[in-house]
Amino acid sequence: MPLPKVEMTIFETILARRSVRRYKARKVDRTTISILLEAAVRAPTAIHQEPWAFVIIQDPQLLRSLSDQAKPLFVAEVQERGLERAGHSYDVFTSPSFNVFYDASTLILLCGKTAAPSCAADCWLAAENLMLAACAMGLGTCVIGCALPALNTAETKIKLNIPEKFSVVAPIVVGYPDDEIIHVLRKSPVILANFQAVHNG
Ligand SMILES: Cc1cc2nc3c(=O)[nH]c(=O)nc-3n(C[C@H](O)[C@H](O)[C@H](O)COP(=O)(O)O)c2cc1C
Repeated sequence: MPLPKVEMTIFETILARRSVRRYKARKVDRTTISILLEAAVRAPTAIHQEPWAFVIIQDPQLLRSLSDQAKPLFVAEVQERGLERAGHSYDVFTSPSFNVFYDASTLILLCGKTAAPSCAADCWLAAENLMLAACAMGLGTCVIGCALPALNTAETKIKLNIPEKFSVVAPIVVGYPDDEIIHVLRKSPVILANFQAVHNG
């Protein structure tokens, strides 16, 4: 794989990554996508199953139609699970102009073989690799979990060439950021216990 030239250390990259929700129109090229996928598949994988596979969508019309399908399904799921009481406002999902993919030029669907023993864990580790690699290369990313109900319908999977034995685990938009960097703060790590060796005498 051609290694991209990046200036950031791994720790700088971890600190710099954040969810980007405004993108420039500039398309992400195929070489860059290949590098991101190569980074993804370097993730640890339980009993070396490598259960992942990818769908790349760069067709704005398809992205818009998937977004339109995603909004009502997500709202229905939120209502069914009582999540609207969790302090979030979901009104934006009823707006016709809202694009759940934030008009990013690229959506990468990280799919997993559902029957693999640690399918979700493997795919999420691959997802973080992909997002950190993207960040180091000056790209923004955002996980779009709200699109999962729509992406995993039988009809959509057929349309997107996703075999029945796979499901979409991590939809990630990728693009060139068009906003100020706003870092979402984190709580300090909660340490439940810290056991040290006992020294006698
Ligand atoms: C499983 C998962 C699903 C997410 N789904 C969405 C989503 O549908 N839309 C969105 O804008 N952000 C989504 N996010 C991004 C989170 O909102 C974001 O990671 C969190 O607020 C922390 O901000 P940061 O990524 O900038 O550090 C999702 C993140 C995860 C891990």
